[in-house]
Amino acid sequence: MHELSNKVAIITGAASGIGRAAALRFAEEGARLVLADIGVEAGEALAAELRGKGSEAVFVRTDVSRAAECEALVQAAVQKFGRLDAAFNNAGISDGPLPPGTIDYPLELWDRLIAVNLSSVFYCLRYQVRAMLKNGGGAIVNTASIAGQIGFAGVPGYVASKHGVVGLTKTIAIEYGAQGVRCNAVAPGLIETPMTKPVFEVQQFRDMVAATVPSARVGTAEEIANMVVWLCSDRASYANGAVFAVDGGFLAR
Ligand SMILES: NC(=O)c1ccc[n+]([C@@H]2O[C@H](COP(=O)([O-])OP(=O)(O)OC[C@H]3O[C@@H](n4cnc5c(N)ncnc54)[C@H](O)[C@@H]3O)[C@@H](O)[C@H]2O)c1
Repeated sequence: MHELSNKVAIITGAASGIGRAAALRFAEEGARLVLADIGVEAGEALAAELRGKGSEAVFVRTDVSRAAECEALVQAAVQKFGRLDAAFNNAGISDGPLPPGTIDYPLELWDRLIAVNLSSVFYCLRYQVRAMLKNGGGAIVNTASIAGQIGFAGVPGYVASKHGVVGLTKTIAIEYGAQGVRCNAVAPGLIETPMTKPVFEVQQFRDMVAATVPSARVGTAEEIANMVVWLCSDRASYANGAVFAVDGGFLAR
């Protein structure tokens, strides 16, 4: 029995890292996929790979920092598959490996982080929830972070954007739970992906992981994808408005 049989799902940031791992797992579990990213080549290649394995998957080039493109993405999903059952709002960027402190934090970087990591989730939710309400509900997972639960020095844009994602997640759960929409957030800890690879290669960082992560290692994108599959499945039917940390125990300290 597949966990997501025939469910129509949107995944943003699907061309790389956690989004790509989720796309592979969703496909294994029988979902019909609409993959979104600004990375056209990698996104198209992933959709083709999934179709080659017998899954239904299309790629829609989407810049999630633009409301109109998020609306078009949801429209494309409904046009192609007739409904929307699940969404993983995961696209995001970091502030970079060594940003300065808040008083010197570039204003343009702040605007960009908020647009790509937070406004994007608001835009996607608006159109996804509207579509889900037409078919009696659905399940949404937003990618927050351990940085959506606690502060980190030097990365105010990232921390604020991820705290905002948590707030939006709770708001949607409260507003639309009675109509069958579940909305949760996953909070990855330190996960090795193309986004974090350059940082993780620094020895100082590896020493920090050993000292601060109770599981004493970084995590994999697949370990996040497994949580997202569960949250989008009917087995998570009473999970709503919560933040699920997958962080090797980082937040438990
Ligand atoms: N890797 C970690 O340790 C970690 C930890 C906590 C949270 N996260 C979050 O997980 C999510 C995925 O990160 P990842 O590590 O897989 O990074 P990644 O860089 O491997 O993947 C991010 C994807 O998002 C896409 N993207 C960026 N801007 C976009 C835009 N405007 N529109 C559409 N797509 C866009 C990129 O093209 C890329 O394919 C992000 O939201 C990130 O903040 C990652």
